[in-house]
Amino acid sequence: MSDKKFRLENVNTGTSSELPVHEGVLGPDVIDVGRLYREQGAFTFDPGFVATASCESEITFIDGEEGVLLYRGYPVEQLAKNSNFLEVCYLLLAGDLPTPEELVRFRHSILHHTMINETLLRFFNGFHYNAHPMAMVSGVVGSMSAFYHDSMNIEKPEHREIFAHRIIAKMPTISAAAYKHSIGQPFVYPRNDLDYCSNLLQMFFAVPCEEYEVDPIAAEALDLLFILHADHEQNCSTSTVRLAGSSGTNPYAAIAAGVSALWGPAHGGANEAVLKMLEKIGRPESIPKYVAKAKDRDDPFRLMGFGHRVYKNFDPRAKIIREMAHRVLEKIGHTDSPLFELALRLEEIARKDEYFIEKKLYPNVDFYSGIIYRALGIPNTMFTVMFAIARSVGWVAHWQEMIADPRRRIGRPRQLYTGPDRRDYVEIGDRT
Ligand code: ACO
Repeated sequence: MSDKKFRLENVNTGTSSELPVHEGVLGPDVIDVGRLYREQGAFTFDPGFVATASCESEITFIDGEEGVLLYRGYPVEQLAKNSNFLEVCYLLLAGDLPTPEELVRFRHSILHHTMINETLLRFFNGFHYNAHPMAMVSGVVGSMSAFYHDSMNIEKPEHREIFAHRIIAKMPTISAAAYKHSIGQPFVYPRNDLDYCSNLLQMFFAVPCEEYEVDPIAAEALDLLFILHADHEQNCSTSTVRLAGSSGTNPYAAIAAGVSALWGPAHGGANEAVLKMLEKIGRPESIPKYVAKAKDRDDPFRLMGFGHRVYKNFDPRAKIIREMAHRVLEKIGHTDSPLFELALRLEEIARKDEYFIEKKLYPNVDFYSGIIYRALGIPNTMFTVMFAIARSVGWVAHWQEMIADPRRRIGRPRQLYTGPDRRDYVEIGDRT
């Protein structure tokens, strides 16, 4: 707690409040408005949480003006260059990079929770083959609460840990099962001799009738994308997990809520929407027409993969992903090169356009990720599922942080009511 205070004058009543100000390690100060209602009889109003810190957190820091993203203090560029997804998972969950022994133990635990209950596997048969994979994943993750309800006491740290490991280990298995179901192929069991992303690729692409060899560049690209998507502080899906979890609900149910929130096109669904948009644009000559549509206030069309609530400078993740897209396409994805060329051209045109410059709209993490997924053979409908696999560690880390906090309270926002004033019930015959 700092000594700083924020004086708020109520010009209507002539009263004022001195509100405490908290200082973070990085980022702006926050004004603690917790006692404002008691003192002034007023709420704060900030739909979309544009200037509201919903919680205190030690996990991830973003400076949107400077394009900075830190996981537990480490710049994401350094982690992308030197680390791997499982090590980043450990970092996000535990707060520090692991020692070699800690990493071995953690990897062992994750790799030995990869199987899912056979009964859970049968759930997929209840879905029509063309169900959206995000619908299947959200449903099946939620149903894990039925399997681990008795062994899940959220007040016990060892239960919370096993939940975290189960989610990280089983998300690829559940996602691959959703994919196999959608294409009518048999489910492929996890292989614990493979690293996290190689195992995911074999569960997606192996078939019982032939040997499958994982392409190392595909596993490397996936690992990089997962590092970059692993956490992003209080985004829509993470805030959803925190809010659902704050009631003390079973955490698998809270994660399912996060999967559902991620699905929307304004959030994780954007990677799928980018590819659809690029396919619709089709050729470089059509770009100006679509840029004009995006700028037209009367047209709901937006350039998908552009803009971000927090980044008003380049999204640091987009830079790294663009480089990886070049590498992947050079090595394996020549057929998608025209789409990538189109994306590069669109970026170039939009970034020179006054509208995008003035509104500080830059390519975000999802502008190029879909192109990599496509080059790896992953279909459009699975893009957001890939995002969900990576982000599940962020959701779990935030859920853990919230539950372990002794000051935890249920999340319960208030509102500005604009409905009818109090009125009396009218008998049906007297209504006009
Ligand atoms: N194309 C055209 N105009 C845009 C775009 C875009 N992609 N994004 C924002 N704008 C315009 C808005 O129309 C608005 O204009 P106005 O001031 O004239 O009304 C202004 O820029 C501000 O936009 P908001 O929607 O108010 O910004 P907000 O912070 O609420 O939304 C969001 C951010 C949802 C990401 C938005 O930029 C968007 O819809 N982008 C496209 C979808 C997308 O790529 N989402 C992925 C985000 S990253 C992630 O979640 C992983």
